Amino acid sequence: MLDLLVHNATLPDGATGMSVAVRDGRIVEVTRGLQAPAREVLDAGGLLLSPPFVDPHFHMDATLSYGLPRVNQSGTLLEGIALWGELKPLLKAEALIERALAYCDWAVAKGLLAIRSHVDTSDASLLAVDALLEVKRRVAPYLDLQLVAFPQDGVLRSPGGVDNLKRALDKGVDVVGGIPHFERTMADGAASVKLLCEIAAERGKLVDMHCDESDDPLSRHIETLAFEAQRLGLQGRVTGSHCTSMHSMDNYYVSKLLPLIAESGVAVVSNPLINITLQGRHDSYPKRRGMTRVPELMAAGVNVAFGHDCVMDPWYGMGSGDMLEVAHMGLHVAQMTSQAGIRQCFDAVTVNAARVMQLEGHGLEAGCHASFVLLQARDPVEAIRLRATRLKVYRRGRLLAETPAATAALHLAGRAPATSWMNPRA
Ligand code: FE2
Repeated sequence: MLDLLVHNATLPDGATGMSVAVRDGRIVEVTRGLQAPAREVLDAGGLLLSPPFVDPHFHMDATLSYGLPRVNQSGTLLEGIALWGELKPLLKAEALIERALAYCDWAVAKGLLAIRSHVDTSDASLLAVDALLEVKRRVAPYLDLQLVAFPQDGVLRSPGGVDNLKRALDKGVDVVGGIPHFERTMADGAASVKLLCEIAAERGKLVDMHCDESDDPLSRHIETLAFEAQRLGLQGRVTGSHCTSMHSMDNYYVSKLLPLIAESGVAVVSNPLINITLQGRHDSYPKRRGMTRVPELMAAGVNVAFGHDCVMDPWYGMGSGDMLEVAHMGLHVAQMTSQAGIRQCFDAVTVNAARVMQLEGHGLEAGCHASFVLLQARDPVEAIRLRATRLKVYRRGRLLAETPAATAALHLAGRAPATSWMNPRA
């Protein structure tokens, strides 16, 4: 007896009429038109059944703090960092936990079931670290939260930076972070990358650094990160986040850089909503988009994922935990408007992001966790176009969230009442 049988689903690879059989929280079979007894049956009605969304880059310690203690006037990255510095001494653990839990509720409702969040380790009290470790414990029954020790003020630049970061790792933070472009000099930035990768190698941790979040074409810390990943045998365990300077780099240099990144097994996480908002702020016109070279990295064989980065915090006042919105912006900014390009953007917020986080059992094959989202869309392209409603969200065979289908009731003169959900085939 199965626990759950999903009928008549379309899968992201285009397979239609598919059945997904679930027992003990795992997918046991994926095949066309399966008939078998099950405690619960879900008719997908030909709609898209997707693996859960995954956000590989977020800041949960800052989320939902928009306006505290004031709004970012210039809208720049640097004023955002300064504003976060003003907010930090005012943070109370309980309020931070409450905001983070509220965001996790939003995430689950949007089918976002795994988040890698950076947590600022610059403050010697490690208040945010303790708070997010508590959040991780509380959400564990319904959401995978992975934490990155993130020295926001620069691990070398800020007093006690290295010690604070190590103490955060001791407390159970999963990943080593960094911010080389925010150190005082290029040399210090490179030294921070080397030091942090060595700490990760010693402790058997993953690495995910904010790397070259800058419009300066000479910000080349991704090169050092890729080199160190190879030197220390960390292939497949290192991520460079943002990498926006690559947008502005010399093309000849990039032609040498891309193979190095690919060989080193370093993944790249781009954050389209934030990059298009924060980059190019020092330009008059033309204004650079600033997002990293997503299609070129993908073509070079690099695993590229998209992150949300910020929702209603000192850097960004928008957002709702909707990774389809992230993919939507990503395909616009990268001009990935071909059918294949749009599907790659869907992968960037699902399977590619899961690879970045090294999530076990993410996917829609037999043996994977029975975690999936039924979308009000017929394929990944339509899902992104409509930022489709998450009709049902399942995790490990359990229904976590439902949202009613989005339909407009039309009352048009001279026409019978009708409904529409903006689907040309509906
Ligand atoms: Fe970030």
